[in-house]
Amino acid sequence: MRVLVAGGTGLIGRSLIRELLAAGHDVVVLTRRPQEARAVLPPGVGVRGWSPPEPLESSVLAGTDAVVNLAGAGIARRWTDAAKREILSSRTAATTALIQAMQTLSARPRVLVNASAVGYYGPRGDEIVTETDLPGDDFLAQVCREWEAAATGAEALGVRVVRLRIGLVLGRGGALSRMSLPFRFFVGGPMGSGQQWMPWIHMDDLTGLVRFALDNDGLSGPVNGTAPNPVRNGDFALALGRVLRRPAALRTPAAALRLVFGEMAGMLLTGQRAIPQAALAAGYRFRYQELVPALEAIYAH
Ligand SMILES: NC(=O)c1ccc[n+]([C@@H]2O[C@H](COP(=O)([O-])OP(=O)(O)OC[C@H]3O[C@@H](n4cnc5c(N)ncnc54)[C@H](OP(=O)(O)O)[C@@H]3O)[C@@H](O)[C@H]2O)c1
Repeated sequence: MRVLVAGGTGLIGRSLIRELLAAGHDVVVLTRRPQEARAVLPPGVGVRGWSPPEPLESSVLAGTDAVVNLAGAGIARRWTDAAKREILSSRTAATTALIQAMQTLSARPRVLVNASAVGYYGPRGDEIVTETDLPGDDFLAQVCREWEAAATGAEALGVRVVRLRIGLVLGRGGALSRMSLPFRFFVGGPMGSGQQWMPWIHMDDLTGLVRFALDNDGLSGPVNGTAPNPVRNGDFALALGRVLRRPAALRTPAAALRLVFGEMAGMLLTGQRAIPQAALAAGYRFRYQELVPALEAIYAH
């Protein structure tokens, strides 16, 4: 099938695209930087430019069977007012541009797999969280609510929509690289109390879930993109230390994180004990159910 991946130049997109190509699919990437994209994407991937919130030519979507929307400005930085505006509007604008382009097509894509995040649920303490739970009300929850609301607009066009509420994706690069840095310098450890839950997922399972969602006509609505066994931050630090053969004893106080990262520190100091109920019920089989083997697989390379 022909799959259009918006934001396909990023961490998740590049892994996903490798798998889609290996499975024999045609892949087209939508990017704001076509020239740079050609340099980082494998040969054979189609590259089309866009610049949301500008409208997208519907001809770009002609012949597309499935759309995966990963586009959005990075959140791992201080959330100034301008950063917050960009984090929210980049996601809603990209999603809205895709759906508006679908409107005028006579043959529309069958499915839209739209990224969202476990931040949808807000900070949840020890509560077990599944897709039926209500959203939170902090900044990230608001972003995810509006992002998902925009994506849901495709349902009225007869497109099956899967809203993938992604957890912390463990792969080479991204958040795991940033988190492992202090461990490499022997100063790793828990963040704050270390009691907060971390809904992680190995990259292979995240891309596996996207492909499962593309293929599985019975799956729609919210799907937690998280492994079945989330861990507390303190246990995550111990596991990372064990795999990297480094101590994990140096706790970073919550006050220090707040000082450095401001409001964004809340994302590091709170979490969700999210369970992938929808994926398990639909029959997705996780390759990495436990954290240590997932980390070992990443650092074995
Ligand atoms: N990685 C995780 O742990 C994680 C967890 C939860 C949710 N998610 C969500 O999943 C999606 C993909 O994650 P990722 O880790 O692959 O992200 P990423 O590496 O930051 O890639 C996101 C892509 O979005 C595009 N983009 C950036 N700023 C944009 C803007 N202002 N407007 C439109 N497009 C923009 C970029 O593509 P171009 O520069 O080529 O246009 C970029 O390659 C993101 O939306 C992220 O929020 C990720």
